[in-house]
Amino acid sequence: MRRQLQCLVEELKRLKREGVRTVNVSDEALAGLRASLQVCVSESPERIDPAVNRDETGAPFAGSGRDGATREPRSERPAEASGEGKRAVAEPSGHRARQTASDTSAPIPSTPPDIRLPDGDKAARWAALREQVIHCPVCRAHVRPGFQVVFGVGDVDADIFFVGEAPGAEEEKKGEPFVGPAGDLLNRIIGAMGLKRAEVYIGNIMNWRPETPSMARNRPPTAEEMAFCLPYLRAQIEIVQPKILVALGATAVTGLLGPDPNRRMGKIRGTWQEFSGIPLMVTYHPSYVLRYGSNSVKRTVWEDMIQVMERAGMAVSERQRGFFLPKKD
Ligand code: URA
Repeated sequence: MRRQLQCLVEELKRLKREGVRTVNVSDEALAGLRASLQVCVSESPERIDPAVNRDETGAPFAGSGRDGATREPRSERPAEASGEGKRAVAEPSGHRARQTASDTSAPIPSTPPDIRLPDGDKAARWAALREQVIHCPVCRAHVRPGFQVVFGVGDVDADIFFVGEAPGAEEEKKGEPFVGPAGDLLNRIIGAMGLKRAEVYIGNIMNWRPETPSMARNRPPTAEEMAFCLPYLRAQIEIVQPKILVALGATAVTGLLGPDPNRRMGKIRGTWQEFSGIPLMVTYHPSYVLRYGSNSVKRTVWEDMIQVMERAGMAVSERQRGFFLPKKD
């Protein structure tokens, strides 16, 4: 119960930061609140450290600050594992409310995109795929004028392929994944691993930023949206052929492994799964770290990255092994 209350307080604080001064407790709002609590309770790590973002270890992706992005309220319906809400709130799960696209959204065809890649080397196939995605009429129909469809970036020969959820406000402006606050943190995680952003590959389940009525908020993609975009991500994975995939958050997990109402991020993170025969490490989304960035959460993500480094055959120094562990006197 204490933890539930802690989650409630966190959510109310978030609303307050967004400028919300009153909360109407209609039946629907109550249901949403209940869903929020359910998510928090089922998915929170052992402990939400009140000293969010405190870091005493000198570790490299410390002091992240919070991601200012917000998300759409959850619906009252129980979810079938949609995902880690966009760059905010609770690292989620199977309990998350099913998301609905805005009524004004262009329809999502039930037929998958027809992907045709030329023969040739990785770079040529990647460039052709990029062109196809950037010009995909369905993707473009979901992007407002002046904003962009977002395709993956990085080294087509990368050993490690990070999979995120969907572009946010910064990403749809720049046409590149993970260039906002969550991207800053991801870059620091990659740096802590001894790599540069350009040495890994970064893609998203979604090629466009899921629409909301005002676009002031982010929302996780619907199952239909994910199903449409997944073949494009799969094609990127087939081109890059990484040694390891890293699913950042529950939406990435749901997109790659399929929905599972019994899946819980708190249970599955840190475990090896498989996608198309490629080992897949599940970890929390950087936005979750930004939101609940206690040392214990950072250490948890870092332990996942150590597993990734080891499996990729990278050396892990003693210093790296000690990141986010309490300092010894
Ligand atoms: N979060 C994601 O999941 N993807 C992005 O590209 C940016 C933030």
